Amino acid sequence: MMAREGVKLGLVGLGTVGSGVVQLLDRQREAFARKIGAPLQLVHVASRSIDIKPHPPLPGVRLSVDPWSVVQDAEVDIVLELIGGTDPARSLVLEAMARGKAVVTANKALLALHGDEVFAAAEAHGVRLGFEASVAGGIPIIRTLREGFVADRNKALFGIVNGTCNYILATMSEDGAEFAPVLHRAQELGLAEADPRMDVDGIDAAQKLTLLIMLAFGVRVPVEAVYTEGIRQLDQIDITFAREFGYAIKLLAIAKEESGVLEARVHPTMIPQDSLLAGVGGAYNAIFTQGEALGSSLQFGQGAGSLPTAAAVLSDVVESARAQTKQQQPRPPLGCAWAELKPAAVRSMDELVGEYYLRFMAVDRPGVLTQISGILGDQDISIASVIQRGRSDGDNTVPLVMRTHAATERNLKTAMTLVDQLPIVQGKSVYVRIEESLG
Ligand SMILES: NC(=O)c1ccc[n+]([C@@H]2O[C@H](COP(=O)([O-])OP(=O)(O)OC[C@H]3O[C@@H](n4cnc5c(N)ncnc54)[C@H](OP(=O)(O)O)[C@@H]3O)[C@@H](O)[C@H]2O)c1
Repeated sequence: MMAREGVKLGLVGLGTVGSGVVQLLDRQREAFARKIGAPLQLVHVASRSIDIKPHPPLPGVRLSVDPWSVVQDAEVDIVLELIGGTDPARSLVLEAMARGKAVVTANKALLALHGDEVFAAAEAHGVRLGFEASVAGGIPIIRTLREGFVADRNKALFGIVNGTCNYILATMSEDGAEFAPVLHRAQELGLAEADPRMDVDGIDAAQKLTLLIMLAFGVRVPVEAVYTEGIRQLDQIDITFAREFGYAIKLLAIAKEESGVLEARVHPTMIPQDSLLAGVGGAYNAIFTQGEALGSSLQFGQGAGSLPTAAAVLSDVVESARAQTKQQQPRPPLGCAWAELKPAAVRSMDELVGEYYLRFMAVDRPGVLTQISGILGDQDISIASVIQRGRSDGDNTVPLVMRTHAATERNLKTAMTLVDQLPIVQGKSVYVRIEESLG
């Protein structure tokens, strides 16, 4: 079809990632032509502020503020959706596929919230849908899970998939600073959005986890079924005490499968300081998997940023363009038909069994430890170790910190509610789950 004259691209959204795509397309033009067997040609770009915001030079490219003009452009073979959000991204992507165009997107929110429609539409229209950039930016985790790990059965996946949270937690640990000023610094550095809720409340990581689960475990989980807890409640003293117990705190996206039941959760997690994930610093991402045949494996790299994410977008473009030039039939975007993915049986958080770090702010007086440990004991929670600091410096409270042996989350929550009702305990107590199985 278009092999001789090249594969025509239409780009919607000329922001951080879109501009990176334009730069890389220019920089790698000859390599792309060699690897595909035909040139890639950007023919149409639409972005809301294209007339007023500076952007890389686009000689000979049709420019518009209207994203529909790209989707409706008969010359465009592959639409790159890089505007983000679900509306109008959802309608644009569906319309492009209905017109027989391949789609490449970096939009995890779209796929996490409307994956049922979008993945099914790609199959129904027989078009390619690439979404490598939607999880962990430049790390090729989608391809790795779909192709590289295809022969294995995954048992567990632990991901640091939100660079903003990883930067905040790593900086709190290194600098001894509190959450709020570190978040502010992340915003100044462009590592956090002005509205940081999607990141610091764990929502972004939960959306990414639903995509990873489909690829790693072959089941579907709606994002509402992923237990999601962010990092706002963590204080510097929790980071410091974690270190004293031999742990680092990371926001982990966790999925584990056992006897057909899946755990799907995002929350701050204490992990051994000498584990591979504990060494993932700054805004980096990493995904640690445990497979029956492959054992442990770690994918590490840049989780975001203009060029790393653009490289992932263009890896999908190259794959699509190669297939188009050879007139190959597309394979399903998730590696198997959407209908083959059954809804997962998700374990309730109450059933979770694990070890916990607990921190109470207790009045500085004798007998406090006895009262708290009594409540924990009544709930079958045994204490592995305790750290109690000296005299208070003003408000008459001191931190009392414990590490438990294995307990059920239901009992733990009951105990925490009862402890928080004690007159000797001030404010809301904190608990953090511990994961040891990250060898
Ligand atoms: N940034 C990263 O590092 C990264 C990493 C992985 C994945 N992603 C994903 O990549 C996608 C793009 O992210 P980004 O960081 O590049 O966002 P961005 O910098 O905000 O760029 C989005 C661009 O799309 C334009 N746009 C938004 N809505 C539009 C509409 N209805 N019609 C036309 N143009 C519209 C925006 O116009 P204005 O200039 O007027 O705002 C902006 O230029 C998102 O899905 C994001 O989740 C980003």
